[in-house]
Amino acid sequence: MNKESKDYIRITGGKSLSGEIELRGAKNSVPKEMVATLLTTETCNLSNVANIRDVDLVGEMLEVYGASVTQPTGTSFQISTENITQQSAEVITEFAGKSRIPILFSGPLLHRFGETIIPGLGGCAIGERPINFHVDALRQMGAEVIEKDGCTLLKAKKLHGTKLRLEYPSVGATEQVVMSAVLAEGVTELKNSAVEPEIIDLICLLQKMGAIISVDTDRTIKILGVDKLRGYDHTAIPDRLEAASWACVALATRGEIKVKHARQQDMITFLNKYRQVGGEFDVVEDGIRFWRQKEVLSPVALETDVHPGFQTDWQQPFVLALTQANGVSVIHETVYEDRFGYTRAINQMGGQIQLFRECLGSVQCRFGQKNHLHSAVVVGPQKLRAADITVPDLRAGFTYVAAALVAEGTSQINNINLINRGYEDFETKLRKIGANIES
Ligand code: EPU
Repeated sequence: MNKESKDYIRITGGKSLSGEIELRGAKNSVPKEMVATLLTTETCNLSNVANIRDVDLVGEMLEVYGASVTQPTGTSFQISTENITQQSAEVITEFAGKSRIPILFSGPLLHRFGETIIPGLGGCAIGERPINFHVDALRQMGAEVIEKDGCTLLKAKKLHGTKLRLEYPSVGATEQVVMSAVLAEGVTELKNSAVEPEIIDLICLLQKMGAIISVDTDRTIKILGVDKLRGYDHTAIPDRLEAASWACVALATRGEIKVKHARQQDMITFLNKYRQVGGEFDVVEDGIRFWRQKEVLSPVALETDVHPGFQTDWQQPFVLALTQANGVSVIHETVYEDRFGYTRAINQMGGQIQLFRECLGSVQCRFGQKNHLHSAVVVGPQKLRAADITVPDLRAGFTYVAAALVAEGTSQINNINLINRGYEDFETKLRKIGANIES
């Protein structure tokens, strides 16, 4: 469990940060791989688990159903869901508003109990984040879905395969379909699916469990349902989103950070942009070393996208680094309609970032003409000044920390426990690379 100490940190900026930080299993993989333990009554072993709040939460939710969740080592879990039992709405709604992962319990629990209740979801406030794709897919697979009092009630004697097409390649909805289809009757075909590395890792894990899943080059995933799955032994892939966050700190503070276990194949698009702005990197045997190559950083135009595009979760710390580039950068966020909220605080610190409703890029995205401030123009270089700021969501939180590391003076960042949702031991890591912090 994370020790929830004081919920603020003070950072005195202006230092170049250098050293090594180590990644663990991806925040957007591990919790889902824990949910997959509900697909079997056999014991599952998951390694490379980070000590972050989203992982704790799924462990707690599994335990509420009666699962045995033990940690033979600090970074591995042994989970058995053999003795789980159905739980009441009162117990389940304790988890309301805390995360988006509970929606992924739908398919596995329908297979176990024939009915289930999913609490209202939480997660970062970066857009409306509806669950219509999940609900539509489950309905088409034979589930009765009722949305009531903020919860989702589901019933299905047996889910069956079907042909589905996502309106947008949603990560969560793809995972929903895959985890529901592996034990469904017949074949499920999902077109326009997301193919993020974290999803491929989940598919590999399910294949180890006995599932039959193929991924075509045109974003089509096909799943042939089987009667039974077995336990797994699996090591989660490292967190490429955290890797990029530290790479941006190296760029913005003129430092040099080796991110142990970072994998080039999961970050190709990020690495190209990093080099384009004046960062450089070395892919070494056990990770990637990042540093600032050019004295003066160059501005860029970039659009976020689903994988293999530039990930939306890389956007915020990268924009912070762009405040130090010499010229005008243009960023078009096409995944979430409201993911620039953090720029207000960066501007308060001296940044010059202006938001636009228009699609400032080559893609006409779903948010154009709809009054969403989803494009940004960043004018740099700007000297940042310290500020007293409060973290609104996970990636914004890390970005505030990065801004404070660049800024002149001592900043106070409040509500830092939100950062623990996805960054393991970030204060220890900051100290290790020489940051001047007080908490
Ligand atoms: N969407 C719908 N309907 C749905 C589902 C999604 O309209 O039923 C829309 C969303 O509103 C959004 C877009 O589709 O505009 C993409 O959402 P997606 O479903 O892909 O996101 P998610 O599964 O809820 C995961 C990560 C996010 C990451 C996104 C995109 C987890 C727990 N979360 O969210 O991670 O940004 O995929 O890659 O895996 C983060 O790590 O900071 C984070 C927010």
